[in-house]
Amino acid sequence: MMKREHWGSRLGFILAAAGSAVGLGNIWKFPYMAGENGGGAFLLIYLALVFTIGLSVMLAEMVLGRMAEKNAIGAFAKLKGGAWPLIGFCGVAAAFIILSFYSVVAGWTISYMVKSVTGALAIEDPDQLGSLFGGFISDPVSPLIYHAIFMVLTVFVVLSGVGAGIERASKILMPALFALLLVLIVRSVTLPGAEAGITFLLSPDFSKVTWTTVSDALSQAFFSLSLGMGAMITYGSYLSKKENIASSAGWVTLLDTMVAVMSGLLILPAVFAFGFDPSAGPGLTFITLPAVFAQMPFGSFFAFLFFLLLAIAALTSAVSILEVVVAYFVDDRGISRKSASITVGVIIFLMGIPSSLSLGIMGDFTIFGMGFFDLMDFVSSKLLLPIGGLFISLFVGWVVWGKAKEDIALHNGIVPFWINAWGIIVKFIAPVAIAFILLKGLGVL
Ligand code: PHE
Repeated sequence: MMKREHWGSRLGFILAAAGSAVGLGNIWKFPYMAGENGGGAFLLIYLALVFTIGLSVMLAEMVLGRMAEKNAIGAFAKLKGGAWPLIGFCGVAAAFIILSFYSVVAGWTISYMVKSVTGALAIEDPDQLGSLFGGFISDPVSPLIYHAIFMVLTVFVVLSGVGAGIERASKILMPALFALLLVLIVRSVTLPGAEAGITFLLSPDFSKVTWTTVSDALSQAFFSLSLGMGAMITYGSYLSKKENIASSAGWVTLLDTMVAVMSGLLILPAVFAFGFDPSAGPGLTFITLPAVFAQMPFGSFFAFLFFLLLAIAALTSAVSILEVVVAYFVDDRGISRKSASITVGVIIFLMGIPSSLSLGIMGDFTIFGMGFFDLMDFVSSKLLLPIGGLFISLFVGWVVWGKAKEDIALHNGIVPFWINAWGIIVKFIAPVAIAFILLKGLGVL
């Protein structure tokens, strides 16, 4: 058997895993969800969930991957078998679903990069920007072209391999992402009137909090940290046994959370400084923000940087989603990386078409009262990821607990002092809390 490829360095792994985690979820979704859900209150609940359940599931996934040295399905098959690989199958299904609509939104960001260069975005009136956005996403052709371009880029990185493709791309793109983020935050928080946005994000208003807020925060945590689908199992499977895996899991969680909070600090102060509504929803980044940029000196330039930031963040995440599927076909089905990447890429492109069209000409077609795009988002982030996380916790806590403890201690032979706290979380707290929050959020309890 061929020896499994490993990450070239610890930094390479952390940047690749952080690249997976940091994405549209942080920069596009997080600020508008915080904006809709009372700002600081949402932030506090989100942080509490990330550093208990999120961090624990992150470590659980990485450990599973490293122990098995296998993809998301193969890991469960190798470590236990029985019905357990079904968790991996759900993960692979989630990967198809998520990437199909994720790539559509990522395509919008590329189109908005182009629009900021051509000057098409230099409009100060949010209503006009709203019609521009609405007109663009409901167009039957143009968004599909950008969706195709984005999928081609994603496929290209994945077919180049783990080291030469994913790791190398992450090492170039992630530092660029952090630099862009810093430049844009400095610009945003130094705008006159920006304090209102900072106060909004940092002072909690608990009157807006309901069980839906909590379940939104939970699904946002899973989506943002790339958990529940096997992305971190897959990336963990390329880790060497010498790595301090717990510290890597901590770094990735911390970086992802920092970028979410920083994106809030980038977007909300700018929105407040120009007197816009923070609860504008998904349009916040595509409608409100261009209006903000249009009113600043060198606005087109900052708009371009912002959409470039979004596109980079989306690309490194999309790569990890595609890798979940490709690793399965390469490990367990004996298909070459190149054929697997291209074939799966084409299928996901096709699956994205109804999502894109549901925002326009297919708008009247609904399932359970939702358009195709919203349905895909709902099924994956609200159901598949949290449920995946629940079973991953149970598996690590009850089925392979002894081996998992050993794996964590591999790098220096010392079982860390917090191991029992982690055990209590994966065995009891995470499964019960996830089940409870899910049922509450769905209105079943
Ligand atoms: N974490 C990514 C984001 O925040 C999306 C993602 C979800 C990536 C699930 C991998 C797995 O945008």
